[in-house]
Amino acid sequence: MDGNGRWAQQRNKRRTAGHKAGVEAVREAVSYARKKGIQALTLFAFSSENWQRPKDEISVLMDLFSFVLKSEVKKLNKNDIRLKVIGDISAFDEKLREKIRAAEALTKSNQSLILNIAANYGGRWDIINAAKSLFQKVSSNECSIDDIDEASFSQHISTHGLADLDLLIRTGGDHRISNFLLWQCAYAEFYFTDTLWPDFKEDLFAKAVEDFSLRQRRFGLTGEQIMTQDIEPKAC
Ligand code: FPP
Repeated sequence: MDGNGRWAQQRNKRRTAGHKAGVEAVREAVSYARKKGIQALTLFAFSSENWQRPKDEISVLMDLFSFVLKSEVKKLNKNDIRLKVIGDISAFDEKLREKIRAAEALTKSNQSLILNIAANYGGRWDIINAAKSLFQKVSSNECSIDDIDEASFSQHISTHGLADLDLLIRTGGDHRISNFLLWQCAYAEFYFTDTLWPDFKEDLFAKAVEDFSLRQRRFGLTGEQIMTQDIEPKAC
């Protein structure tokens, strides 16, 4: 969800006004994903590197997360949306952690859409976390080192249980991943747009999905194999 700061600066406002405007784009994206039957939507709200931002911006972002969790959770629940926060939430204050736990508990049985909010998240953190869990299992003889493969590793990643990532959209004009879902990106399609996040409305999300639907995903096979043979592409 990149571009909030620039969106605000273009309007001679504080960067934090951009984050507030970004909340409306979050609502639209969630509503679109729910309507389209997308299985899971993961929004990058706060990276492990964002702690280095000015203190007042961090403070506004924390208040905003808290506010959004409280104000939106009933609506999410009513729409059968399951909310999960992925990332190291131990760094957040207890009040925010309690709101996260309450929102996750309330929505845990919902199935129409999984909404992952990546907060204090880093793709490298995610991979290290999975490695640590597996190492613990090997140490306590719950599994052997030979049991570690891509499938078992995936089960210890924060998005475990979800299908492989299909489409990664980055708003704001930069063409990089910035430590987001690194493991999950293996065979994902990328879509970059110059649109700043607060302006990323439903029609633009639909355009990205349409672009994705026109791509040929080969997963290492040749185009001919995909077109002519009955081979199921296998993502890792
Ligand atoms: C990146 O834009 C955006 C963020 C670091 C924060 C995103 C947060 C929200 C949209 C608020 C609510 C979200 C949820 C899910 C509760 P930037 O500040 O890096 O923009 P810039 O590149 O223009 O400076």
